[in-house]
Amino acid sequence: NKSPLKEALKDKFLIGSSLNARQFSGKDVKGIEIVKKNFNTIVADNCMKSSLIHPEENRYNFVQPDEFVRFGEENRMFIVGHCLIWHSQLAPWFCIDEKGGDVSPNVLKKRMKEHITTIVKRYKGRVKGWDVVNEAIEDDGTYRKSKFYEILGEEYIPLAFQYAHEADPDAELYYNDYSMANPGRRATVVKLVKDLKKRGIRIDAVGMQTHIGMKYPNIDEYEKSMLAFAETGVKVMITEMDLTVIPTPDPNIGAEVSASFEYKKEMNPYPNGLPEDVAAAWTKRMGDFFRLFLKHQDIISRVNLWGVADPDSWRNDWPMAGRTDYPLLFDRNYQPKPIVDLIIKEA
Ligand code: XIL
Repeated sequence: NKSPLKEALKDKFLIGSSLNARQFSGKDVKGIEIVKKNFNTIVADNCMKSSLIHPEENRYNFVQPDEFVRFGEENRMFIVGHCLIWHSQLAPWFCIDEKGGDVSPNVLKKRMKEHITTIVKRYKGRVKGWDVVNEAIEDDGTYRKSKFYEILGEEYIPLAFQYAHEADPDAELYYNDYSMANPGRRATVVKLVKDLKKRGIRIDAVGMQTHIGMKYPNIDEYEKSMLAFAETGVKVMITEMDLTVIPTPDPNIGAEVSASFEYKKEMNPYPNGLPEDVAAAWTKRMGDFFRLFLKHQDIISRVNLWGVADPDSWRNDWPMAGRTDYPLLFDRNYQPKPIVDLIIKEA
């Protein structure tokens, strides 16, 4: 019941979770207790995304982000900001002019610069690392056709990194994405990092989100990606880890898709807890990944779960509401799962 995870992993890598507003505002008492005891790094789950932090061109909402950063400082944690440029949860005005058409490249650059500079400067020296660009690359290695890409082309990525660096020269800067085991995405991320470095643009780490399932990804392919990213000279960070036991019929997240899958019937197979064999398989797979992180502790500097305890995981609501999922290290009673002891033992 003690589970001092951060002590066990002290000399290996930072260990942490994302925090929701109930947590950093102090309302989720049980969740906070777990966080303080076990974690030494945090990232905001939603409040720094553009639609929340910058809902209108001339209005920022810093109430929650300020609270989040204060929580991290009070608890002496390594604070990560998530995320500066992302196509999703994007402020509706960001890429659009008064008539609803796309803004010009110059206007978009100006807006990106203003957005990034304002936020990064506000937390200068306090937020130690930023997910500068999130999810810009597709499974097949092509660039995602986001508004940023359509208006500025690939160049929006180096620009974002440059603006962030100018705003806080000491902050670490990350490129973050999901399904990183896919060879197509792996190759383009490697090329992107090399290009940034060649141009002298700061990038410190590649973030592998690691929203994984019981089958996807293949752990050998995942390891290949870790090594390929490290090879470019950056650190590797596990940024949003969770392991769902519910098959997800969405090829976009690389989760397993079966031809005979009937989503309705299967969408909530374990409403009252996991059968023992499923729980054991979950522990085994989570253990395999943590063993991999420990094996490569020289290149991995941070492992971050996407949520604290199972009830607050986004996986319960995604890709469809009404799932009862079990993806995190702490269970629905806010108790450490057997995996926690296993990690501590193997660290
Ligand atoms: C998720 C949040 O956890 C949810 O609360 C929100 O509704 C949707 O976004 N990749 C990311 C995260 O980079 O920001 C996403 O977070 C999960 C997938």
